[in-house]
Amino acid sequence: MTSVDVVIMAAGKGTRMKSRWPKVLHRLAGRALVEHVLDSVVGLQARRIVVVTGNGAPEVEGAVMAWSRNRGVPAPGFVRQEPQLGTGHAVQQAVPLLAEDGITLILNGDVPLVEASTLRSLVERSGGRALALLGVRMTDPTGYGRLLRDGEQVTAIVEHKDASEEQRRIDEVYTGFMAVPNGLLKRWLARLTNDNAQGEYYLTDIVGLAVQDGVAVVAVTAADPLQVEGVNSPSQLAALERAFQQRQAQALMEQGVRIADPARFDVRGQLVCGQDVEIDVNCVFEGRVALGDGVRIGANCVIANATIAAGAQIHPFTHIDGETAGVKIGEGALVGPFARLRPGADLGPEVHVGNFVEIKNSTLGRGAKANHLAYLGDASVGARVNYGAGSITANYDGANKHRTVIEEDVHIGSNSVLVAPVTIGRGGTVGASSTITKDTPPDTLSVARGKQVSIANWQRPKKAAK
Ligand code: UD1
Ligand code: CA
Repeated sequence: MTSVDVVIMAAGKGTRMKSRWPKVLHRLAGRALVEHVLDSVVGLQARRIVVVTGNGAPEVEGAVMAWSRNRGVPAPGFVRQEPQLGTGHAVQQAVPLLAEDGITLILNGDVPLVEASTLRSLVERSGGRALALLGVRMTDPTGYGRLLRDGEQVTAIVEHKDASEEQRRIDEVYTGFMAVPNGLLKRWLARLTNDNAQGEYYLTDIVGLAVQDGVAVVAVTAADPLQVEGVNSPSQLAALERAFQQRQAQALMEQGVRIADPARFDVRGQLVCGQDVEIDVNCVFEGRVALGDGVRIGANCVIANATIAAGAQIHPFTHIDGETAGVKIGEGALVGPFARLRPGADLGPEVHVGNFVEIKNSTLGRGAKANHLAYLGDASVGARVNYGAGSITANYDGANKHRTVIEEDVHIGSNSVLVAPVTIGRGGTVGASSTITKDTPPDTLSVARGKQVSIANWQRPKKAAK
C-alpha cells in the first residue's frame, strides 16, 4: 500500500466571516471546523498529518493539540505560513515535512463534512500516478474554482475571479480536495507563479502543470454536495449547520426516534436512543447523551453528557449538564419543568425532581422526591425521602465542601437548611424551616427554629397625625 500524507490548509483569515477568530475555529455542531476535518482524516492511517497555520496560529494549533489528546492520536505536525500568499504557497510550506514517495492528500480546513470514504477514493484514483481532484456540480457555483475539461481529462481549474463570463457558466467546481503523488507535487509547487487576479500562488494551478507534463488529471465527482460545502461566511456556516442537523435528525428518525420537528433539533455531539423515544421541539443535545426506551423529552431542554434510563420523562425547560462527571437519571424518573441537574447528579429509579430544583454531585435513592425550589449539593439521599420545598444543603463553608447524608424514608420540611457535614437519621422528620447543624437520630422529629409566640393586645404602629 502507498503511504499517505495529509496536508490541511488552515492559515487563511476568513475575511468574509468578519470575525476576530480564525475561520477554522468557528463551530459546526459544537466542534471547530478543523476538528471535523481532522476527524474525517483520522481513519485513513496516514503516515503524517501536517496542518498549515497562519492567522491565529497559536489558537488553531492549540485546538488541534486538544483534539489529538481527546482522540488519543499522535499530534499532527505544524508549519506556519507567514504571510499567507495563497493555497499553493500554503502547501509549499509543508514540503519539508513530506517524504519523496507516497501520495499527499490536500484538504481545505474550511470544508468540514467530507467523509473518510470520499478521501480514500481520491487516494485510490491517484494511485501514485495521477493527480486526482474532487469535483462537484453546484447549482450556484459562484466563488468556486471551475473545472475546465477536454472530455474526460481536466485541463485546468480557473478561479472565479479569473474566469471569463463563459467559464463562469460552468457548474462543475473544485471542492478543495486533491490527491497528488509526492514527487510530482514538489516539482509542480516549485513552478507556481502568482500571475492572477488575486496575486496569489494558487494550488489549483498545478492542474495546468500536470497537463504540460503529460500527467493524467482525473476528477472524482462527489455524490453528496453537503460533504464538500465550504464555510466562508456566517450565512454559509448557518446553512451547513442546519443541513447537518437535518441529516442527524433524519438518521435518528429512521431508527424510530420521534422528533416533533427536525428543523428545531440540534445534536452537538453524540445522541444514542432506544426504542419509542420522543423529543419535543427546540431541544439541544451536547457531548454524549444516551436515552433509554420510552424516554420523553419536553420542549426547550438542553441536555449534555447524561444517561437517561428507560421510561424517564424530562419536562420542558430543563437544563442538564454532566460535564465530565456525567448525570444519570434512573428508570421512570420525572424531571422538570425548569429543573437543573449538574455534574454528578445521580437520580435513582422513580425519583421526582420538580421545578426550580438544582442538584449537583448528589445521589438520590429510588422514589426520592424534591419537587419544588430546592438545592441538593454533595448529598446522599436515601430511598423514598421527601425533600421539602425551599430546602437547601449548605455544603460550602467558604473554603471546603462537605457532604450531607439523608437516610431512607426521611421527611425534610419546607425551607430547611442542612448545614454539612450532617446526617439525618433513617425515618426521621425535620420540622419546616429548621436549620440543622447536628446529626439527628433515626425516627425522631428534629426542630431547630425560634419558638412561636403570640402576643395578645399588640398594637400595630400608626401613622403620625399631620
Ligand atoms: C479554494 C480553491 C477553489 C475551490 C475552493 C473550494 C484555490 C486557489 N482555490 O478557493 O478552486 O473551489 O477552495 O472550497 O485553492 N489557506 C491557507 N493559506 C492561504 C490561503 C488559504 O492556508 O494563503 C487555506 C484557508 O485557510 C482555507 C483554504 O486554504 O482553509 C482555502 O482557502 P480559501 O481562501 O477559502 O480558498 P477559496 O477562495 O475558497
Ligand atoms: Ca473557501
